[in-house]
Amino acid sequence: MILFLVSILSHLLLCVSDDRLTPGEFISSNESLVSDGSAFALGFFSPTNSSSDLYLGVWYNNMPQKTVVWVANREKPITNSPAVLRISNDSNLIVTDSVGLIFWSSNLSGIGTPGNNTVAVLLNTGNLVLREDSNGILWQSFDHPTDTFLPGMKIQYNYSSHLDKFFRSWKDEKEPAPGNFSFGIDSNNSLQVMTWLGPKIYWRSQVWSGNLFSGALGPNSTSVTYLTIIADEDSILMQMTVSDISAYIRYTLSYSGQLQLLSWDNGSELWQIYASGPVNNCEKYGWCGQFAYCDGTESVPSCKCLKGFQPKLQSEWDAGNYSAGCIRMKVLKCGEGDGFLKMEGMKLPDQFVFLRNRSITDCRSECMANCSCTAYAYSELNMGSNMVPRCLVWMGELIDTGMLSSKGEDLYLRLMDITSGIPGVQCVFFHGNHCSIVAGH
Ligand SMILES: *[C@@H]1O[C@H](CO)[C@@H](O)[C@H](O)[C@H]1NC(C)=O
Ligand SMILES: *[C@@H]1O[C@H](CO)[C@@H](O)[C@H](O)[C@H]1NC(C)=O
Ligand SMILES: *[C@@H]1O[C@H](CO)[C@@H](O)[C@H](O)[C@H]1NC(C)=O
Ligand SMILES: *[C@@H]1O[C@H](CO)[C@@H](O)[C@H](O)[C@H]1NC(C)=O
Ligand SMILES: *[C@@H]1O[C@H](CO)[C@@H](O)[C@H](O)[C@H]1NC(C)=O
Ligand SMILES: *[C@@H]1O[C@H](CO)[C@@H](O)[C@H](O)[C@H]1NC(C)=O
Ligand SMILES: *[C@@H]1O[C@H](CO)[C@@H](O)[C@H](O)[C@H]1NC(C)=O
Ligand SMILES: *[C@@H]1O[C@H](CO)[C@@H](O)[C@H](O)[C@H]1NC(C)=O
Ligand SMILES: *[C@@H]1O[C@H](CO)[C@@H](O)[C@H](O)[C@H]1NC(C)=O
Ligand SMILES: *[C@@H]1O[C@H](CO)[C@@H](O)[C@H](O)[C@H]1NC(C)=O
Ligand SMILES: *[C@@H]1O[C@H](CO)[C@@H](O)[C@H](O)[C@H]1NC(C)=O
Ligand SMILES: *[C@@H]1O[C@H](CO)[C@@H](O)[C@H](O)[C@H]1NC(C)=O
Repeated sequence: MILFLVSILSHLLLCVSDDRLTPGEFISSNESLVSDGSAFALGFFSPTNSSSDLYLGVWYNNMPQKTVVWVANREKPITNSPAVLRISNDSNLIVTDSVGLIFWSSNLSGIGTPGNNTVAVLLNTGNLVLREDSNGILWQSFDHPTDTFLPGMKIQYNYSSHLDKFFRSWKDEKEPAPGNFSFGIDSNNSLQVMTWLGPKIYWRSQVWSGNLFSGALGPNSTSVTYLTIIADEDSILMQMTVSDISAYIRYTLSYSGQLQLLSWDNGSELWQIYASGPVNNCEKYGWCGQFAYCDGTESVPSCKCLKGFQPKLQSEWDAGNYSAGCIRMKVLKCGEGDGFLKMEGMKLPDQFVFLRNRSITDCRSECMANCSCTAYAYSELNMGSNMVPRCLVWMGELIDTGMLSSKGEDLYLRLMDITSGIPGVQCVFFHGNHCSIVAGH
């Protein structure tokens, strides 16, 4: 009996202390590495119990249901054969079947023979790192994400080399192969993130205003998560950090195209969806058409024309086809009787131009001076030690606008005859030819 216990214990100890692989070592189908700290495990899995398809993946350790956060050979499962992960003779991490056929490789060329110090380690962040003392990190799974964005992971967009990292959904819940949806930084504007359905934009985040997201997670959690974007002259970097590193938090792009922020609830032993988008058609990119917005302050979000605009094709609009959008009730006459209407609590439209180093007065007068400028928005971004002004102007149509129940921004909309009153607009105060309305009116 004692011997039996000892053997179980030694087996357990072997498992929990094994967070790394060195040249000559390998793990096979039924084995796994567990990070030092036990948060994550690396090993082979099959998404369905019936299937014999094997994938190498990383999942949360000690969790009743297997939640996979990274998959290596997502396009090439090993079928009907035992699988092996090891460090190859040229220092790559490779996944092979029983006869040595390579199903996945870290694909680094010209590294040479693995030295004594080459090692693959599963870190407690869920990052699988291949490193060598002299060269530091050779490869890491955080640079090659699948569908999940974890705390500590960085997505970088490099303007000059157009190097970016995109997340790609699974095909469906049982198939890790790349699916229909992808997620990443918008390469045109780089102040927002997007999901795509194939080549088309499917959903767009709010324009970055300092912190894309921050807040307590879930009713009983004291943990706070921050999504920060650091932009400089040649690249842009997005990173998620969590105040309590023991909390399990992730962004996952589901196979049906929803970008979800999930946190693990210890009480119910379930993932709680903390934020998700899009949750209805109205929130999908451009669903409401030009010069319209999705009103998310209502219990059932719906498309509405911006103030001073009316449906372009009323019958289509009434029938629930919003694609034609809205048109002005009063045509702009540049410089004569036009002004800005402030709409509060908005998700700012897409296709803006970011003007650097402008004050709010500069921002407004620059928009005023250009006859094709239809709107502007201004805020100050908190970039650590300094405040960076963010002046956005729109030339032409406004697309994918929203009204939010919280964390919206002010959008200044150029309209004709603003001071003489526009149907549906109640002016709360005037500043010259500058009229404001309260969100929701
Ligand atoms: C894993 O499977 C192999 C054969 O497929 C077996 O020899 C080995 O003992 C198994 N290891 C564990 C830890 O179960
Ligand atoms: C796979 O098997 C495990 C244990 O037998 C079970 O808990 C789990 O629900 C099964 N998963 C599926 C998708 O059938
Ligand atoms: C790797 O190196 C070992 C020892 O040098 C050798 O026996 C083995 O054949 C090599 N494997 C491959 C795939 O080249
Ligand atoms: C490795 O490189 C080959 C050839 O360039 C490519 O076909 C393959 O998709 C790459 N594999 C991975 C996992 O990137
Ligand atoms: C490291 O490499 C040297 C020479 O290649 C060898 O003698 C030594 O045994 C190796 N050490 C370990 C721990 O493998
Ligand atoms: C961006 O790409 C350029 C050209 O490849 C490179 O010189 C620069 O170091 C890169 N910047 C970052 C932050 O990766
Ligand atoms: C960039 O903008 C152009 C024109 O608005 C659009 O056609 C293209 O799809 C955009 N690219 C991305 C990656 O969003
Ligand atoms: C969840 O519960 C386990 C034990 O039940 C505990 O060890 C762990 O710290 C808890 N995690 C969090 C985030 O509260
Ligand atoms: C992905 O797109 C294909 C082709 O349009 C479609 O048949 C399939 O149902 C889509 N999958 C999901 C999960 O939406
Ligand atoms: C939060 O805590 C309260 C009281 O401690 C408990 O009744 C409730 O079920 C908890 N909610 C969740 C989601 O765990
Ligand atoms: C929606 O309206 C547009 C015209 O704006 C038309 O081309 C399109 O066919 C309509 N779609 C449907 C589903 O009726
Ligand atoms: C920003 O504008 C101010 C005043 O217009 C000017 O003094 C400053 O040099 C500008 N800074 C940059 C980085 O262009």
